[in-house]
This record gives sequence, structure tokens and C-alpha cells, in this order.
Amino acid sequence: MKKTRLLIMLLAAAMIFVLPLSGCGKQSESEDPADAAAETEAEAETEEGSVIDYMVLVNQKSPLPDGWEEALETTTVTNSVGDEVYVESKAYEAYCKLKEAVEKDLEGYEKGEVRFELDSAYRSVAAQQKIVDDFTEKYGEDYVKKYVAVPGYSEHHTGLALDLYFTIDGKDVYENEDLVQYPDIWEAVHARLPEFGFILRFPEEGEAITGYAYEPWHIRYLDSPEIAKEITDKGITLEEYLGV
Ligand code: DAL
Ligand code: ZN
Repeated sequence: MKKTRLLIMLLAAAMIFVLPLSGCGKQSESEDPADAAAETEAEAETEEGSVIDYMVLVNQKSPLPDGWEEALETTTVTNSVGDEVYVESKAYEAYCKLKEAVEKDLEGYEKGEVRFELDSAYRSVAAQQKIVDDFTEKYGEDYVKKYVAVPGYSEHHTGLALDLYFTIDGKDVYENEDLVQYPDIWEAVHARLPEFGFILRFPEEGEAITGYAYEPWHIRYLDSPEIAKEITDKGITLEEYLGV
């Protein structure tokens, strides 16, 4: 009897240890700002009772609403290149389901086994500024205007925008110029977005409205498969759906 109880206790302890590593990979809830990397200032804390607006519009004309970060709850994940990524927690759960579905759809892909990773989700204003600086140096100002938001006006500040990349047979396909070489993989991703509450935020045909060039990797969580489906089926942008 005592042995059985001990065994149960050991099993329970093992489960507690294993749980944070299960599901979509290595992750941890982040409710304490001190948990997040000071370098990127990616703190997120939960205020009792505060709720974020999953339909929020942050674009070239609309900055992140005041008080957003205080209400944001994130999950922290470490990606295949060793970067910590902070994602709004509900969006992360949905992403895990999307990842599982698309990886299954791509089983038998001719170039090898495809596994999705998160490049970036929540970004502080300082982190966005670093991207502006790094990309200006690497790709030049014209590229930055087309692909990178002005700090304070990036949807990434919400934690609801996710930049995806992938590995093929364990090899990272990470840089933007490499990612665009795989339209077949992006097609598989985009086909599954609405059912998990995501939209493709910067579609090719939406450039004049969003102000950004086509980004196959940048998806936006709306917390509503119905709305995501409507936007996708109509081939419109979030701006058009919201009537702005
Ligand atoms: N790449 C998108 C536009 C951003 O920087 O928020
Ligand atoms: Zn993005």
C-alpha cells in the first residue's frame, strides 16, 4: 500500500516536471516582468480582470493603445535559433494547433520534413527600433519602409502578430529572402489560418491598404475563426473589415 502511494506521488511529481515541456514545445507562462529578457524589455503581466481586445487595429496610422502591455499575458518559447519569443498566451495555444495541422498536411513534402518555428511575436518599442536599425544596415531604407513598422506602430507590440519560419529536415530556413523561396509551404500555412483564428495580415493584394509589402510569414490572431474566415473568404484586409 505504502509502495503504491509512493509510486503515485512519484508519478505526479514527474508529470508536474514534464508538463511545461509538453505540447507545442519548451514554454513557460510569463506573468512576472522580471521573467522576460531585460534586453528586449519583453515583460508581460496579467492584471486581475483585464482583457485585451483581440480585434485591436495597430497599423501605420494607429499606435498601440495605452495600457496594452499591462493587460497582456504572454507565453515564452525558445526557438530553434535560440531566441526567446513572447506570444500572447491564447494566440500561442492557437498557433500550436495550427503548427500541428500544417506539419501534418506537409507530411511527405518533397524537400524534407517541415517543422514550424516562431521568429518573433511580441516586441517592445525598443525591440522594434533595433529591427529598424539592423534591417536598415542589412537591406537599406527602402526595404525597411516596405517591411518594418515605425516603433510604436507595429502590430507586434500587441503580442498577437506572429512571424513564422521553418526547418526542413532540421535545417533552419530563417532569412526573409530564403523564406520567400517556398510558396508551396506558405500556401499550406495560409490555407489553415482561419480555422485557428488567424489571418494573413499583409496579403499581396492588400499592399495599398496595409502600406506593407507581402509578408507570407506574418500572421495575426483574432481569437475568432468566424471573423478570420470572413476576412479570408472576402479577400480583404483587417482595415477593410473594420471599415477604416
Ligand atoms: N513587419 C511588420 C510590418 C512590422 O514590423 O510590424
Ligand atoms: Zn511580423
